[in-house]
Amino acid sequence: MTEKIAIASDHAGLELKLDLKEFLTELGREALDMGVDNDASVDYPDYGSPVAEKVSTGEVKKGVLICGTGVGMSILANKFRGVRAALVSDVYTARMSREHNDANILVIGGRIVGKGLAREILRTWLETRFAGGRHQRRLDKITEIEKKVNGQG
Ligand code: RB5
Repeated sequence: MTEKIAIASDHAGLELKLDLKEFLTELGREALDMGVDNDASVDYPDYGSPVAEKVSTGEVKKGVLICGTGVGMSILANKFRGVRAALVSDVYTARMSREHNDANILVIGGRIVGKGLAREILRTWLETRFAGGRHQRRLDKITEIEKKVNGQG
């Protein structure tokens, strides 16, 4: 079955989002585009939330978010239970964020990272598997902390 990837940006990430959306299709993935579709100024939480929600509920396994620096989208996405959003601007971190952190949302700064590098980051991120083992133990600790912080632990 074709892997579905939810993707969204604000106005500052639109150009890169359109390019990465096309690249997702080239990589054989189905891109679920949650906006924006024009460069009018918007608030990134309005567009990042639907993607983070889909990942949090398990409706999709992975998402991609883009804003100007990627910082706002990262802060937002990591508020959602079970979301592990990684702000990435190099290929090594892209690989490690999957291998060690099992990141389920890739965040890129559209004003920081060029299209060529962003494509390599995305390809690497999609193709790298989580290593498990000691890294799973660490993620389990984060899950426990998340429960405590949200009053369910
Ligand atoms: C929009 O100007 C910009 O603030 C936004 O795209 C993002 O970089 C926020 O973190």
